[in-house]
Amino acid sequence: MSNPRKVLIFGKHGQVGGQLVNQLAQREEYAVVATDIEDVDLTDDTATRTLVIEQRPDWVINTSAHTAVDRAETERELAHQLNAVAPRVIAEACSEIGAAMIHYSTDYVFDGSASVPYVETDQPNPQSVYGITKLEGERAVLSALDHSLIFRTAWVYSKDGKNFVNTMLRLAGERSEIKVVCDQYGSPTLADDLAAMTIGALGRVVVDTDFSAYGIYHATGQGVVSWAGFSGEIMRLSGNSQVKVHPIPSSDYPTPAPRPAYSVLSNHKLKQQFGLELPHWQDALGRCLG
Ligand SMILES: NC(=O)c1ccc[n+]([C@@H]2O[C@H](COP(=O)([O-])OP(=O)(O)OC[C@H]3O[C@@H](n4cnc5c(N)ncnc54)[C@H](OP(=O)(O)O)[C@@H]3O)[C@@H](O)[C@H]2O)c1
Repeated sequence: MSNPRKVLIFGKHGQVGGQLVNQLAQREEYAVVATDIEDVDLTDDTATRTLVIEQRPDWVINTSAHTAVDRAETERELAHQLNAVAPRVIAEACSEIGAAMIHYSTDYVFDGSASVPYVETDQPNPQSVYGITKLEGERAVLSALDHSLIFRTAWVYSKDGKNFVNTMLRLAGERSEIKVVCDQYGSPTLADDLAAMTIGALGRVVVDTDFSAYGIYHATGQGVVSWAGFSGEIMRLSGNSQVKVHPIPSSDYPTPAPRPAYSVLSNHKLKQQFGLELPHWQDALGRCLG
């Protein structure tokens, strides 16, 4: 076998980063170096750049981000640093050493006023600090580095992370009734499936010496559901059907950051280019809770 490709991962303790580390460890064609805040704090641009230059990876996968959507409203500078500046610094360092980069973005770059799934060329119009800074990050990566892939994903959860599924499971142990918003629609995405798709796409690019289709791809679980519908299925599949889920409008559950009402992303381009498709959200939830 030829020399393994070196992959540097930022965000190894996160939902997607953790899955990438686990799954790549089983593949002998990759040599992984995984980092998180204890190795390099992404608020330190010099340390971030130095790490990439010194490691000289073939690929960098950046999963780290300021993902606390409501807190970002009051932590604007930190969100800007982690979601926009650090990705630019990483992309510039990749450009210096001839590495390629995979980065993740979000459905929250859209305002949610659509009624059909968003495609990659649709005009973004983020409504929150998180969405604004993630969009800045996309643009910074794309302008600093030709060889970059950006996967816009949504509603990410995993068995261990801080996420909606685990919040619902905790509430199921505390309450007999919960209120959940029913007028925001999206596509839940299991981090395991996003990581598997990422590794699939990476493998195709690595073997295709003529690959040139870099840029943005939408990558979410298949299917569409509201948060209330998702919650009902979490209760059912986790054996908590006795917990009553009351659907409520978003106006009854105000949050610091506004959320898009409809943030469904068409995954057509991903399938067409890479032949890859994430499983349906119900299938994924069953595996996560099984
Ligand atoms: N979660 C979602 O629902 C969702 C939806 C759409 C898009 N995305 C995007 O998908 C990607 C992966 O999301 P995820 O859910 O896997 O994220 P996550 O679980 O929140 O992980 C983010 C990682 O970044 C690390 N980090 C935070 N501040 C840092 C710093 N100053 N220096 C270095 N590392 C730092 C975090 O460390 P600590 O844990 O120590 O803070 C954590 O390990 C992100 O780009 C995110 O924007 C996520």
